Amino acid sequence: MDQKIKTLNDKLALAKLGGGQARIDKQHEKKKLTARERVMYLLDEGSFEEIGALVTHRTKDFGMADQQYYGDGVVTGYGTVNGKLIYVFAQDFTVFGGSLSETHAEKICKIMDMAINVGAPLVGLNDSGGARIQEGVRSLGGYADIFYKNVQASGVIPQISAIMGPCAGGAVYSPAMTDFTMMVQDTSYMFVTGPNVVKTVTNEAVTSEELGGASVHASKSGVAHITATNDVECLEDIKKLLSYLPQSHKEKAASIPFELKEEIRPNLNSIVPENPNKPYDMHEVITGIIDEDSFYEIHKNYAENIIVGFARLGGRSIGIVANQPMFLAGVLDVDSSKKAARFVRFCDCFNIPLLVLEDVPGFLPGTDQEWNGIIVNGAKLLYAFSEATVPRVTVITRKAYGGAYDVMNSKHIGADMNFAWPNAEIAVMGAKGAAEIIFKKEISNAEDKEAKLKEKEAEYAKLFANPYSAAERGFIDDVILPQNTRRKLIKAFKMLENKAVSKPDRKHGNIPL
Ligand code: HXC
Repeated sequence: MDQKIKTLNDKLALAKLGGGQARIDKQHEKKKLTARERVMYLLDEGSFEEIGALVTHRTKDFGMADQQYYGDGVVTGYGTVNGKLIYVFAQDFTVFGGSLSETHAEKICKIMDMAINVGAPLVGLNDSGGARIQEGVRSLGGYADIFYKNVQASGVIPQISAIMGPCAGGAVYSPAMTDFTMMVQDTSYMFVTGPNVVKTVTNEAVTSEELGGASVHASKSGVAHITATNDVECLEDIKKLLSYLPQSHKEKAASIPFELKEEIRPNLNSIVPENPNKPYDMHEVITGIIDEDSFYEIHKNYAENIIVGFARLGGRSIGIVANQPMFLAGVLDVDSSKKAARFVRFCDCFNIPLLVLEDVPGFLPGTDQEWNGIIVNGAKLLYAFSEATVPRVTVITRKAYGGAYDVMNSKHIGADMNFAWPNAEIAVMGAKGAAEIIFKKEISNAEDKEAKLKEKEAEYAKLFANPYSAAERGFIDDVILPQNTRRKLIKAFKMLENKAVSKPDRKHGNIPL
């Protein structure tokens, strides 16, 4: 028995070494943790249970029979984060550059199946040179098996991908089909074809960083939801994100104990400027409403005219979608519509109630927007809100103009409670634009055109630049003082806690893509 125990221990020790000390040192030189170090940092101490540590690849070509590493370039298993079960895989760059072989893929698929069947989040830590070149189509098949399972898992369990090294070719599509993609600055990149292929095909000279680095994907493409400055920060971000999420679609949003007190926040009364054309930072409104220090922003540097993120309100997780008057006056455009729609759908999948803070002057006009499909992209957000059955509450903090009024979680598309602050303006468009159109003749016939426009503008503003016309019709449930917003929202979400909606029978809807 002693000898057998030694044999096992020797094998496990080899598995722990991955591709060997020299390659581990190289990984550290690049300021990257190894796969095992990442898993250990992510999970609660002592909670990791490895699955498949002794798996080896089956390739014999290209001298591969002599190159065997236990684990085959991916560490897989389960453990807990803040006491809650998760499944995790971490690609080991020290073994064939973390490249994906048939067996490597099988290991990932095995824990994906468990995560789906048990109902617990899946976290993938990606650091890989892509398909294992020595294995050809077997490796491609392995990728496709993972893609397929990503789709089976979608909406069943939360799936989080961290890109902590290279991620090229088809390898980018598994992260893209998960719910959240995180990237580490300077050490990770994602692209379908790398700089060499780009140069050959398009003659464009570009670096890996410029093509698919963390900041590019966080600000230009929107592929990355969160960026971190190093591995440890990225792993901390994952832990934090998990704290807002339920284990699966069968659970309610996470919550922590909370006792309702007075909850009056007078500072909310003075955030919106007197002048309706002056911007203000919607983050201040968010901070004024939610539980202290609880905002976790997603897509912070992408489509900044809309803010999305998780927070706690009265102890329970909520998803926030808020127009940001600081950027493009908070208009809806192609990117902000896509960003918000994706977030709304995630929250709806996982029973996370939605709070919408609205200050929107409308959709962004122009050829750029029309040619890039603002119609179909704006429709995504309209569709996403309309199909969401989680508790949904809106607060109009200032403007709610035009089609954007309808889209931003209006009563008409199924919102449960709609509040407006007393300064709210709910109309088809701003008073000046409206007066110019409907009183065009009167203004052009007037002796003093300027004065006539002013007069008509005031007339329109009196009628619509307020929340009362909407409140009289019941489109707004209550006009509230800003300082009471937090209290009103805590009570509204509590009241809506057991909301249940039955949907028409169908296979699935057809969201405009
Ligand atoms: C097998 C690989 C590998 C791969 C790297 N290695 N990529 N082995 N298959 N895809 C091995 C290297 O031989 C090396 O082995 C070790 O990993 C580290 O690689 P280096 O090149 O020394 O590291 P570095 O300089 O940091 O460069 C990393 C890299 C580069 C940028 C990832 O290795 C690279 O470009 N690899 C190929 C990327 C690629 O084209 N992959 C296929 C994409 S297509 P030793 O023994 O020296 O340590 C694809 C299709 C999927 O993925 C389609 C799905 C639908």
